[in-house]
Amino acid sequence: MDRRSFAQLLTIGAGSLGLQQASAQANKDDADATPAPKSKQREAHPEPVNVADIRALAEAKLPKATFDYIATGSADQITLYENLAAFQRLRVYPPLMKGVSDADLSTTAIGQKINLPVILAPVAAQRMYHADGGLAAARAAAAAGTIYGVSSSVGNSVEEIGASSKGPKWFQLYVPKDRAITRKLVERVERAGYDAIIVTVDLGEWKDADRRNRFSLPKEMLVKHLRDVGFDQITDQMSYEDIVAFNANAWDLSLTWEFFDRLRGITKLPLLIKGVLRPEDAIKAVLIGLDGIVVSNHGGRRLDGMPATIDVLPSIVKAVDGKAEVFMDGGVRRGTDVLKALALGARSVLIGRPYAWALAADGEAGVAKVIELFREELQNAMIASGCAKISDIDSSLIA
Ligand SMILES: Cc1cc2nc3c(=O)[nH]c(=O)nc-3n(C[C@H](O)[C@H](O)[C@H](O)COP(=O)(O)O)c2cc1C
Repeated sequence: MDRRSFAQLLTIGAGSLGLQQASAQANKDDADATPAPKSKQREAHPEPVNVADIRALAEAKLPKATFDYIATGSADQITLYENLAAFQRLRVYPPLMKGVSDADLSTTAIGQKINLPVILAPVAAQRMYHADGGLAAARAAAAAGTIYGVSSSVGNSVEEIGASSKGPKWFQLYVPKDRAITRKLVERVERAGYDAIIVTVDLGEWKDADRRNRFSLPKEMLVKHLRDVGFDQITDQMSYEDIVAFNANAWDLSLTWEFFDRLRGITKLPLLIKGVLRPEDAIKAVLIGLDGIVVSNHGGRRLDGMPATIDVLPSIVKAVDGKAEVFMDGGVRRGTDVLKALALGARSVLIGRPYAWALAADGEAGVAKVIELFREELQNAMIASGCAKISDIDSSLIA
């Protein structure tokens, strides 16, 4: 793929490239439902009782291209499936008679107290899902007492999100090539009161559905996104093609570990790296003093064929050996998934698609609803497993 294509995919999707090659592979276009036939929900129930219901509500509301952009994964969606299937392969062995009838879900993440170990992952283009976009997600996260991971490409400026709620926020950084813009952006993030920076380092989205659907951000959103980041040279008067070409060339796709030294020189905020799958990369992150590691394969949206995150989590936790906090995302759809991830050593999980669908289904109320479902399900799973508090969840639950 040429660099222009790659950068376009990095920030918004593939559609406006005009690439139309249909994959020769039969693409499973309903990945989330397939590994879970028992919980398969195709009708849009007005009162959702699980994430699958919320997904169905989003599907009923969104244009197909936007729904596909959220739901699908890269290429043959092997990794997307694996994230879900690997959770379903794990079995829980609850100890009996522990006298537990209530559970306290509160914990901390990078020193921040949160009411439950479910954090909103950075998700791009949220104004395409609901007019309130990231502002709604920020408010819902704050009300639920959890952290909102704010994508560089969310569709609202750092300041707009900062002003929308007092809740804790992590800013996810895609790195502009222009280091002066990077510096200014990070300074703005600090001024707007964010609590940490997550640098996403797994790049290279390649999604057949987006190419078929010619998915792209509307011009107004692309202009706003680039100006929000700090590319002041972008104007409404520019043609869409020129803006797309600018965007394709604006981002640094050849990051190395030295970038974190530079970032450390700019900010005192805690730093996390997102996209770790190999123990040696986790060790490197610890050695350079990063505060947190997010085990992630980008929800199966990047290099297809990467392993399920829940499968690699134990090896990363072992390598890190308590020297940084380890988080995970990818395929978390149930409270029992959260329990499994914590049992295998995650400090907290992050969720992506579940709240993107919820935002599409019902804006701020939808995101509040999906967080509440996770809270109820995790509480139920903890009580059923004899865990009165988060620190009671340990690896003995998973044989
Ligand atoms: C629609 C969509 C957009 C995303 N945009 C970003 C992004 O801008 N930055 C980022 O670091 N991760 C992004 N991700 C990945 C999520 O942060 C997260 O890693 C992933 O969604 C977790 O998997 P899940 O969707 O199965 O929960 C995006 C995911 C989705 C579904």
